[in-house]
Amino acid sequence: MAWWHAVVDSRHELQNPTSPEKILLLGEALGLDESSRVLDIGAGRGGPAVLLAREFGCRILCVEPWREFADAIRERAQAAGVGHLVEVVESKAQDFEIEAAGFDAALCIGATFAFDGLVPTVEALARAVPPAGAIAVGEPFWREWPLPRDFELREDEGFLPLAETVDRFESGGVELVALITSSQDDWDRFESLKWLTLDLWLAANPGHPQAEEFRTEGRYRRDRHFRWRRDLMGWAIFVGRVP
Ligand SMILES: C[S@@+](CC[C@H](N)C(=O)[O-])C[C@H]1O[C@@H](n2cnc3c(N)ncnc32)[C@H](O)[C@@H]1O
Repeated sequence: MAWWHAVVDSRHELQNPTSPEKILLLGEALGLDESSRVLDIGAGRGGPAVLLAREFGCRILCVEPWREFADAIRERAQAAGVGHLVEVVESKAQDFEIEAAGFDAALCIGATFAFDGLVPTVEALARAVPPAGAIAVGEPFWREWPLPRDFELREDEGFLPLAETVDRFESGGVELVALITSSQDDWDRFESLKWLTLDLWLAANPGHPQAEEFRTEGRYRRDRHFRWRRDLMGWAIFVGRVP
């Protein structure tokens, strides 16, 4: 069985609607340097980790349960010359024992579902850093509120408008100190690469038992993006300081 994200994210450097420049901004907001030790939960294919290690010389421990993605992190870190700075643990977030105050900064970029929501994610990351340590979480928010009547909300879209998302973020015990928001270009680049990748995959795997299922899912997600989510959904990296 092929996993949807392993197929459509297979050519993404960053598996979120953001850019390398914005990940470097994140590194600056976190105050990273050669002495920093960073925890990255739900590290994906290692895009943020490799960029941060290369630019700031920090050490990064990546927690990622999906084998193909974990392998991609190792390969990409080696190729970028930062294999000695990037360590990978193949684990689900909740099975990984976080060393209390063991890191200077802790990240979860686009994977709050791994902790069952934004607040438990912030709480877990805050425990990973010492007082005055920094955390960052990538999370969607609604640009329009209330949502249009015709928009059918999915179960996994229990997001809030921006101000309420910040309240929710801070209720995890941190203070917001920076916000790095996605542009529509970031969204279009992120979503389009999925459509292109799926198109190539379908052409290369015409007889795959999941080909029709993936084609249907791809069209559904693509249409939902340009009909609704492109205007309705924002995404940002929320950077917080632990008291
Ligand atoms: C949207 S991707 C983000 C990847 C990366 N942070 C980035 O920005 O490029 C979410 C990642 O969370 C991982 N993930 C899924 N379930 C998880 C879990 N229970 N614990 C930790 N990570 C998980 C997925 O395999 C995927 O790599």
